[in-house]
Amino acid sequence: MTKSVHRFYTELKPLHYELQLTPDAKSMTFSGTVVIRLKKTGRPSQRLTFHQNELKVESARVIKHDKKGSQELTVQRINNQDTLNEVRVHTAEMVYASNYEVHLNFKGKITRDMTGLYPCFFNAQKKEQVLLATQFESHYARDVFPCIDEPEAKATFHLTLITPPGLELLSNTPIEKQTTLPDSMVSTSFETTPPMSTYLLAFVIGNMHNISSKTKRGTDVSIWTTTTQPLNALDFALDVAKRSIEFFEDYFGVPYPLAKIDHVALPDFSSGAMENWGLVTYRERALLAYPGKTSQSARELIATVITHETSHQWFGNLVTMRWWDDLWLNESFADLMEYQAVDALFPEWQIWESFSISEGLSALRRDAMPGVQAVKTNIHHPDEISTLFDSSIVYAKGGRLLFMLKAYLGEEAFRRGLTDYFTAHAYGNTTGNDLWKALGKSSGHDVAGFMNPWLDQAGFPVISVDQTEQSVTVGQAHFLENGETSDGRLWPVPLFTDGKSLPDLLTKAELKIRLSTGTRPLLLNQNTLGHYIVNYIQPTHHDYLIELLKAKSVGVIDRLMLLNSASMLAKAGHQPFGEALKLLAAYADESSESVWTMIALLISEAVRFIDLDEQLEKPIKAYVGSLVKNEAKRLGWDEQADESSADQKLRATILSLGAYAEEQAIVNEATKRFADYQADPENLNAELRSLVFGVPVKNKLKGAFQYLVKLHDETNNADLKSDIMSALTMTKDPAEAAILLSRLKNAPIIKPQDAEYWLILLLRNRYVRNVAWQWLVDNWQWIEKTYARDKSYDDYPRYAAAICNTKAWAEKYTQFFKPKLGEITLRRNIVIGLTEIDTRVKWLDRDLGSVRSFFKS
Ligand code: BES
Ligand code: ZN
Repeated sequence: MTKSVHRFYTELKPLHYELQLTPDAKSMTFSGTVVIRLKKTGRPSQRLTFHQNELKVESARVIKHDKKGSQELTVQRINNQDTLNEVRVHTAEMVYASNYEVHLNFKGKITRDMTGLYPCFFNAQKKEQVLLATQFESHYARDVFPCIDEPEAKATFHLTLITPPGLELLSNTPIEKQTTLPDSMVSTSFETTPPMSTYLLAFVIGNMHNISSKTKRGTDVSIWTTTTQPLNALDFALDVAKRSIEFFEDYFGVPYPLAKIDHVALPDFSSGAMENWGLVTYRERALLAYPGKTSQSARELIATVITHETSHQWFGNLVTMRWWDDLWLNESFADLMEYQAVDALFPEWQIWESFSISEGLSALRRDAMPGVQAVKTNIHHPDEISTLFDSSIVYAKGGRLLFMLKAYLGEEAFRRGLTDYFTAHAYGNTTGNDLWKALGKSSGHDVAGFMNPWLDQAGFPVISVDQTEQSVTVGQAHFLENGETSDGRLWPVPLFTDGKSLPDLLTKAELKIRLSTGTRPLLLNQNTLGHYIVNYIQPTHHDYLIELLKAKSVGVIDRLMLLNSASMLAKAGHQPFGEALKLLAAYADESSESVWTMIALLISEAVRFIDLDEQLEKPIKAYVGSLVKNEAKRLGWDEQADESSADQKLRATILSLGAYAEEQAIVNEATKRFADYQADPENLNAELRSLVFGVPVKNKLKGAFQYLVKLHDETNNADLKSDIMSALTMTKDPAEAAILLSRLKNAPIIKPQDAEYWLILLLRNRYVRNVAWQWLVDNWQWIEKTYARDKSYDDYPRYAAAICNTKAWAEKYTQFFKPKLGEITLRRNIVIGLTEIDTRVKWLDRDLGSVRSFFKS
């Protein structure tokens, strides 16, 4: 299929929108008028076509402006082509290339699917209240007004909203004028925006309150939330938001161009956050931090989300990709920049370690799957746009590639290139090559030649290093998790090695180099700067690494990445999985939180074998129990004065592993702390909340399940709700799981934005996996109806594939998902899922013996 999406911008170039909207939350409808000033180019025809979706355009006027003056054309017919997502205004006269002004009146519906214009629900004084908000990325502006809904079609916007009195109103720019109309409705106009893409336009209407501050340069920064939330839950976000703007102004060397920036927590929100220019929207959990009740990990999440969206104010908003195939220009950059900024704002957090864990592992693991997409991917149908937002690829891998590029060019040249890029393309659109040009100029490197193979090709190489006394052979081959090799694709691989023996870049498939005698074993990809894994062939090389590990002369990021490589190489058949587990012996007194997160991941992989042999459960638990003993003792249950943020997080990881291992002391303490919490909810470290709630659920402590369900339904704290979800979904009782599942479609209790996570967690829980799967099968129509337009829709085949470990589950998956291959949005993840499961089933089968013997000894 080589069909491509028809691009309207080639014929119509909008310059300005004069947009007025009157939403009515009661009838869930809106009406509007828009005047679009545009330039028609290309061949003349008798119609003008705009994007729209489910709107009814009722009347239209077309006025031509040229040197000779103004002339109104005769509108013959308005054709709302719903299936094509467009509206055609047919005129009696020819529409020649010229300037036009098009007036359209239209009506539309406010729908609940969290795109276009949609309602958010929240309770204030036990009364349900509604707030109206917009979500226009990727192509939902057309749900609210007829427009040229393509990122390249930048225009200025002057928005007027007609609303009932007494509400707060926010849009991209400050309020310009507010007047009360004769019917006591309020008309609010916002200042005209700079030229920008339609997907970045936004507004929010409702009962909200805020706190504010000003940046050094005088930009107004505000954080908003519904009136049910306490204002002090906004303090943390305000500090981060303000300092983020200051950081990026300095880092990019380009000032933030708007007068203000608002950040709003919305009770209903499909993704994590959205970077609308000057009006960033969030799900509550990604913005609100309740003093004393928010964990370090939650604060890190909030900070990275805020810096991510703030970086988009430059990457994405000021300079925008020409078309969605270069989405990575937005998201890969924001992925990298969120860490760059957080590292500057909170140096004590060691956030680059989290970058390796969160982005590095996710990118490598996903990118090793056959069928995965490249960072830069063409799209052939609008429905494919949402599938581009693969968090492991366009975010994690793209972010890792830019990180690699930054390391390769050096920070100085990288920053200078970015400043040039923003200056040259401000308010414009670009492709990757524009960026490569700027970075090439600042660094003197052939950046396009270096980066394009990484962006255009799916996958990454495994670099083999075969070193003997006299020589070393370094080779590259496409790494696939099923052990197959592909078409011989190559990458320019920066070797990031020490000494002078090897060149900076490996561009060929293989390179053999003579070594002077006594050369130490070479280490490649130091600090894991590159997006690839290394396979050291000689056993002596392995021994050397283990020596280094034991002597603690390997940095944190390399320590965790060595474990990851061992695991990935094992799964691909290069060595038995038991060998990867044996490597753990070299981590005997590990105390890094990041490395422990990797260890926990490795253990979760070993746990998969229990699905094949239940006898393994006991020895695995015993092993895990002994593994965490020292750290559990060092950390204890209570936060120590001046302890590092890493230790706060590590405590939760270690104690959770201990609880998994059913270490009696840990189980008892968790149970006790659960009782303490019930007596006094102030009495619990938020970092340990899901653990302390989860243990009683797993053990069916009387009343625990009911208590937590009630707490979940009553609290307004989305972070607490999420911890309760983690705990409740740990149940081992299928009947309790069924109760949880029966609540998923009940929107007042569990918002559609969260239902997905409940289901995924229950699917991951092997005790209740069957009921969860059955629910998925039985309720697929609801899932489709609720999420089909959402970018989370293709999560279902993706996360379902991740839980299948046996032939029986492979069959279930195939039976259910294979018939859905025809669905454009699901196809890729089903194809990947099928091979992924096949690979995993074979791997578990192949390595069961090796794992058995590891845990026996
Ligand atoms: N632009 C995206 C959000 C988005 C993407 C909305 C596609 C609708 C369609 C935003 O910048 C983003 O990337 N959000 C992330 C969170 C971020 C911190 C990784 C998200 O929502 O997952
Ligand atoms: Zn983003």
